[in-house]
Amino acid sequence: GTTLRAAAAEKGRYFGAAVATGKLSTSTYTTILNREFNSIVAENEMKWDATEPQQGRFSYTGGDRIVSHAQANGMSVRGHALLWHQQEPGWAQGMSGSALRSAMINHVTQVATHFRGKIYAWDVVNEAFADGGSGGRRDSNLQRTGNDWIEAAFRAARAADPGAKLCYNDYNTDGVNAKSTGVYNMVRDFKSRGVPIDCVGFQSHLGTTIPGDYQANLKRFADLGVEVQITELDVMTGGNQANIFGTVTRSCMAIPQCAGITVWGVRDCDSWRGSDNALLFDCNGNKKPAYDSVLNAL
Ligand code: XIL
Repeated sequence: GTTLRAAAAEKGRYFGAAVATGKLSTSTYTTILNREFNSIVAENEMKWDATEPQQGRFSYTGGDRIVSHAQANGMSVRGHALLWHQQEPGWAQGMSGSALRSAMINHVTQVATHFRGKIYAWDVVNEAFADGGSGGRRDSNLQRTGNDWIEAAFRAARAADPGAKLCYNDYNTDGVNAKSTGVYNMVRDFKSRGVPIDCVGFQSHLGTTIPGDYQANLKRFADLGVEVQITELDVMTGGNQANIFGTVTRSCMAIPQCAGITVWGVRDCDSWRGSDNALLFDCNGNKKPAYDSVLNAL
């Protein structure tokens, strides 16, 4: 293939980008998006603050635009994210206990029902594990509703959209470490008890190095019987950027259960990482060396 989407499709994978609806009217942006990518995810438009700005009042304008752009251009959609301790609407930030538990389950049910049949994979829960060496959960108002909040969310999502793959998604889980092992133990427990989980997302917001056991880490999760996906890839600029993008791509391609790769934006100037110049296209829309490195590895 001569584009990322064609080369990935030849290998039975997808290649995706995070999209901001506000940029869909910029032609440089949309030209690259439609030519190179066959999967998209909303950068912000499907998050809790965007979809339920007031309790029980749902807003799907941005999310629906992402879905219709995908459908018009032969792209699948990743749903991101049903529950996350960040970008909670203000009304939920102030809640706790059983009121928050029912509000959060209602959110999962309503949003997954609205998009039912249109989402390839949902990030049901995002970033629920702590950084550092504990391997345990991150403290949040969601976590304080009870340790079973994650499985309750997955069961609600399955009931609302039985056709979507249900993922757990996190960062700093890109090698074998205490945090990724915490997630691994949760996934193993869920599989053993029949909690519905289908995939694990590895955000892969990377600096100037990549863990040497990146591929081995993907493999240990795949061996649990879940799909693995690279969900938010970007890499700090520097001498190793192209090599690191290539290593991530080769690692995914080496694992049959790695369904695809999503980069967290289109051009460097679209990136949340600002001056890191962390993506595959420069601000003029030109392909960077990292682009060739990815294409060669697909
Ligand atoms: C980021 C978006 O890119 C920004 O526009 C927003 O201001 C903050 O969130 N992990 C995630 C993503 O799961 O949702 C985050 O996206 C980046 C880190």
